[in-house]
Amino acid sequence: MRKLVYYAAVSLDGFIAAPDGAADFFPVNLDLMAAMNERHPETVPTAYREAAGLQDAPNKRFDTVLMGRATYEMGLNSGTDSPWSHLRQFVVSTTLAAAGPGVELSDHALPLVRRLKAQDGGDIWISGGGVLAASLLPEIDELILKRYPVVTGAGIPLFNGGFNPHTFDRVTVGHFGAGTTVTTYTQG
Ligand SMILES: NC(=O)c1ccc[n+]([C@@H]2O[C@H](COP(=O)([O-])OP(=O)(O)OC[C@H]3O[C@@H](n4cnc5c(N)ncnc54)[C@H](OP(=O)(O)O)[C@@H]3O)[C@@H](O)[C@H]2O)c1
Repeated sequence: MRKLVYYAAVSLDGFIAAPDGAADFFPVNLDLMAAMNERHPETVPTAYREAAGLQDAPNKRFDTVLMGRATYEMGLNSGTDSPWSHLRQFVVSTTLAAAGPGVELSDHALPLVRRLKAQDGGDIWISGGGVLAASLLPEIDELILKRYPVVTGAGIPLFNGGFNPHTFDRVTVGHFGAGTTVTTYTQG
Protein backbone atom coordinates (compact mmCIF):
# COMPACT_ATOMS: atom_id res chain seq x y z
CA MET A 1 0.00 0.00 0.00
CA ARG A 2 1.14 3.55 -0.67
CA LYS A 3 2.78 5.25 2.30
CA LEU A 4 2.02 8.67 3.68
CA VAL A 5 5.31 10.39 4.45
CA TYR A 6 5.91 13.71 6.19
CA TYR A 7 9.26 15.00 4.92
CA ALA A 8 10.23 18.37 6.36
CA ALA A 9 13.06 20.55 7.62
CA VAL A 10 12.94 21.26 11.33
CA SER A 11 14.89 23.16 13.96
CA LEU A 12 16.34 21.48 17.06
CA ASP A 13 13.36 22.78 19.02
CA GLY A 14 10.76 21.47 16.60
CA PHE A 15 9.89 24.42 14.37
CA ILE A 16 9.47 24.27 10.58
CA ALA A 17 9.18 28.02 10.00
CA ALA A 18 9.52 31.36 11.72
CA PRO A 19 6.39 32.90 13.28
CA ASP A 20 5.85 34.84 10.02
CA GLY A 21 6.21 31.67 7.93
CA ALA A 22 9.72 32.32 6.62
CA ALA A 23 12.11 29.39 6.46
CA ASP A 24 15.30 31.23 5.51
CA PHE A 25 16.90 30.74 8.94
CA PHE A 26 17.81 27.14 8.09
CA PRO A 27 21.54 27.17 7.32
CA VAL A 28 22.44 26.30 3.73
CA ASN A 29 24.03 22.87 3.69
CA LEU A 30 25.26 21.87 0.25
CA ASP A 31 26.12 18.23 0.98
CA LEU A 32 22.69 17.66 2.51
CA MET A 33 20.99 19.37 -0.45
CA ALA A 34 22.91 17.24 -2.96
CA ALA A 35 22.09 14.02 -1.10
CA MET A 36 18.40 14.82 -0.73
CA ASN A 37 18.06 16.03 -4.33
CA GLU A 38 19.51 12.69 -5.40
CA ARG A 39 17.23 10.71 -3.05
CA HIS A 40 13.99 12.67 -3.53
CA PRO A 41 14.37 14.77 -6.70
CA GLU A 42 10.59 15.11 -7.00
CA THR A 43 10.45 17.19 -3.80
CA VAL A 44 12.39 20.03 -5.45
CA PRO A 45 9.83 22.64 -6.57
CA THR A 46 9.26 22.70 -10.32
CA ALA A 47 10.61 26.25 -10.56
CA TYR A 48 14.00 25.17 -9.15
CA ARG A 49 14.43 21.87 -10.95
CA GLU A 50 16.33 23.23 -13.93
CA ALA A 51 18.79 25.16 -11.76
CA ALA A 52 19.33 21.97 -9.75
CA GLY A 53 19.95 19.96 -12.93
CA LEU A 54 16.79 17.94 -12.29
CA GLN A 55 14.62 19.03 -15.21
CA ASP A 56 14.55 15.49 -16.65
CA ALA A 57 14.73 13.61 -13.35
CA PRO A 58 11.96 11.05 -13.00
CA ASN A 59 9.92 10.96 -9.79
CA LYS A 60 11.55 8.32 -7.60
CA ARG A 61 9.33 7.72 -4.61
CA PHE A 62 6.50 10.25 -4.45
CA ASP A 63 3.89 10.93 -7.11
CA THR A 64 1.54 13.01 -4.95
CA VAL A 65 2.02 16.01 -2.65
CA LEU A 66 -0.34 17.38 -0.01
CA MET A 67 -0.17 20.99 1.18
CA GLY A 68 -2.05 22.83 3.89
CA ARG A 69 -3.58 26.13 2.84
CA ALA A 70 -0.92 28.20 4.63
CA THR A 71 1.89 26.26 2.96
CA TYR A 72 0.22 26.68 -0.43
CA GLU A 73 -0.19 30.40 0.20
CA MET A 74 3.55 30.78 0.84
CA GLY A 75 3.99 29.68 -2.78
CA LEU A 76 1.19 31.97 -3.98
CA ASN A 77 2.90 34.90 -2.26
CA SER A 78 6.06 34.17 -4.23
CA GLY A 79 4.14 33.91 -7.51
CA THR A 80 3.71 30.13 -7.75
CA ASP A 81 0.21 28.65 -7.92
CA SER A 82 1.34 25.17 -9.00
CA PRO A 83 4.55 24.52 -7.03
CA TRP A 84 5.08 20.83 -7.85
CA SER A 85 3.53 20.50 -11.29
CA HIS A 86 5.48 17.27 -11.88
CA LEU A 87 3.43 15.65 -9.06
CA ARG A 88 -0.28 15.22 -8.41
CA GLN A 89 -0.95 18.16 -6.09
CA PHE A 90 -3.59 18.67 -3.43
CA VAL A 91 -4.19 21.71 -1.25
CA VAL A 92 -6.34 21.12 1.81
CA SER A 93 -8.54 24.01 2.92
CA THR A 94 -12.03 24.84 4.07
CA THR A 95 -11.72 28.48 2.94
CA LEU A 96 -9.88 28.58 -0.42
CA ALA A 97 -12.30 29.04 -3.32
CA ALA A 98 -9.95 27.82 -6.04
CA ALA A 99 -6.42 26.59 -6.61
CA GLY A 100 -3.93 26.89 -9.46
CA PRO A 101 -3.71 24.74 -12.59
CA GLY A 102 -3.40 21.07 -11.79
CA VAL A 103 -3.84 21.64 -8.04
CA GLU A 104 -6.81 19.79 -6.59
CA LEU A 105 -8.66 21.27 -3.65
CA SER A 106 -9.96 19.17 -0.74
CA ASP A 107 -11.64 20.24 2.48
CA HIS A 108 -11.22 16.91 4.32
CA ALA A 109 -7.65 15.67 4.68
CA LEU A 110 -8.21 12.30 6.36
CA PRO A 111 -10.82 10.93 3.93
CA LEU A 112 -8.68 12.23 1.06
CA VAL A 113 -5.63 10.35 2.33
CA ARG A 114 -7.58 7.17 2.95
CA ARG A 115 -8.95 7.35 -0.60
CA LEU A 116 -5.48 7.95 -2.06
CA LYS A 117 -3.95 5.13 -0.04
CA ALA A 118 -6.56 2.74 -1.45
CA GLN A 119 -5.47 3.64 -4.98
CA ASP A 120 -2.38 2.36 -6.78
CA GLY A 121 0.53 4.73 -7.08
CA GLY A 122 3.71 6.02 -5.53
CA ASP A 123 4.03 7.27 -2.00
CA ILE A 124 2.28 10.44 -0.84
CA TRP A 125 4.32 13.32 0.50
CA ILE A 126 3.03 15.77 3.08
CA SER A 127 4.94 18.93 2.28
CA GLY A 128 3.51 20.74 5.29
CA GLY A 129 2.65 22.44 7.38
CA GLY A 130 2.16 21.60 11.01
CA VAL A 131 -1.62 21.97 11.11
CA LEU A 132 -2.13 19.62 8.17
CA ALA A 133 0.42 17.12 9.53
CA ALA A 134 -1.26 17.05 12.95
CA SER A 135 -4.63 16.34 11.36
CA LEU A 136 -3.09 13.42 9.44
CA LEU A 137 -1.00 12.00 12.29
CA PRO A 138 -2.93 8.69 12.59
CA GLU A 139 -2.27 7.99 8.89
CA ILE A 140 1.40 9.02 8.75
CA ASP A 141 3.51 5.96 8.01
CA GLU A 142 6.91 7.61 7.93
CA LEU A 143 8.68 10.76 9.01
CA ILE A 144 11.79 12.03 7.27
CA LEU A 145 13.17 14.90 9.32
CA LYS A 146 15.99 17.12 8.16
CA ARG A 147 17.06 18.47 11.53
CA TYR A 148 19.24 21.57 11.41
CA PRO A 149 21.41 22.62 14.35
CA VAL A 150 19.50 25.81 15.01
CA VAL A 151 17.22 26.75 17.92
CA THR A 152 14.60 29.37 17.08
CA GLY A 153 12.69 29.65 20.36
CA ALA A 154 9.40 30.20 18.54
CA GLY A 155 7.80 29.55 15.19
CA ILE A 156 5.46 27.18 13.41
CA PRO A 157 5.58 23.71 14.98
CA LEU A 158 6.27 20.50 13.05
CA PHE A 159 2.91 19.28 14.34
CA ASN A 160 0.30 21.79 15.42
CA GLY A 161 -2.80 20.11 16.82
CA GLY A 162 -4.03 18.75 20.11
CA PHE A 163 -2.04 16.54 22.49
CA ASN A 164 -2.10 13.21 20.68
CA PRO A 165 0.91 10.91 21.36
CA HIS A 166 1.90 8.47 18.63
CA THR A 167 5.09 6.44 18.90
CA PHE A 168 7.59 6.10 16.07
CA ASP A 169 10.60 3.82 15.61
CA ARG A 170 13.84 5.24 14.31
CA VAL A 171 14.93 3.46 11.13
CA THR A 172 17.90 5.37 9.79
CA VAL A 173 19.95 8.42 10.61
CA GLY A 174 22.29 10.19 8.22
CA HIS A 175 24.86 12.77 9.27
CA PHE A 176 25.71 15.76 7.12
CA GLY A 177 27.91 18.82 7.44
CA ALA A 178 27.68 21.20 10.41
CA GLY A 179 25.71 18.74 12.53
CA THR A 180 22.67 18.42 10.28
CA THR A 181 20.94 15.02 10.40
CA VAL A 182 18.28 13.27 8.37
CA THR A 183 16.36 10.79 10.49
CA THR A 184 13.72 8.41 9.24
CA TYR A 185 11.04 7.02 11.55
CA THR A 186 8.16 4.67 10.96
CA GLN A 187 4.99 4.76 13.00
CA GLY A 188 5.03 1.89 15.52
N1 LIG B 1 10.35 23.44 7.00
C1 LIG B 1 9.62 22.78 6.10
O1 LIG B 1 10.06 21.74 5.58
C2 LIG B 1 8.28 23.31 5.69
C3 LIG B 1 7.54 22.59 4.77
C4 LIG B 1 6.28 23.07 4.41
C5 LIG B 1 5.77 24.21 4.97
N2 LIG B 1 6.53 24.90 5.87
C6 LIG B 1 6.00 26.12 6.49
O2 LIG B 1 4.84 25.80 7.22
C7 LIG B 1 4.07 26.99 7.35
C8 LIG B 1 2.59 26.66 7.28
O3 LIG B 1 2.26 25.70 8.27
P1 LIG B 1 0.97 25.84 9.18
O4 LIG B 1 1.04 24.74 10.17
O5 LIG B 1 0.85 27.24 9.65
O6 LIG B 1 -0.25 25.65 8.16
P2 LIG B 1 -0.63 24.54 7.07
O7 LIG B 1 -0.75 23.21 7.72
O8 LIG B 1 0.22 24.67 5.87
O9 LIG B 1 -2.08 25.09 6.66
C9 LIG B 1 -3.10 25.16 7.63
C10 LIG B 1 -4.42 25.30 6.92
O10 LIG B 1 -4.64 24.18 6.05
C11 LIG B 1 -5.98 23.78 6.10
N3 LIG B 1 -6.07 22.46 6.74
C12 LIG B 1 -5.11 21.82 7.45
N4 LIG B 1 -5.56 20.61 7.85
C13 LIG B 1 -6.82 20.50 7.37
C14 LIG B 1 -7.79 19.47 7.42
N5 LIG B 1 -7.54 18.32 8.06
N6 LIG B 1 -9.00 19.67 6.82
C15 LIG B 1 -9.24 20.82 6.18
N7 LIG B 1 -8.35 21.86 6.09
C16 LIG B 1 -7.15 21.67 6.68
C17 LIG B 1 -6.71 24.83 6.90
O11 LIG B 1 -7.03 25.84 5.97
P3 LIG B 1 -8.38 26.71 6.06
O12 LIG B 1 -8.15 27.65 7.21
O13 LIG B 1 -8.45 27.37 4.74
O14 LIG B 1 -9.51 25.75 6.32
C18 LIG B 1 -5.62 25.32 7.85
O15 LIG B 1 -5.87 26.61 8.36
C19 LIG B 1 4.51 27.91 6.23
O16 LIG B 1 5.15 29.03 6.82
C20 LIG B 1 5.54 27.12 5.46
O17 LIG B 1 6.63 27.90 5.04
C21 LIG B 1 7.77 24.47 6.24
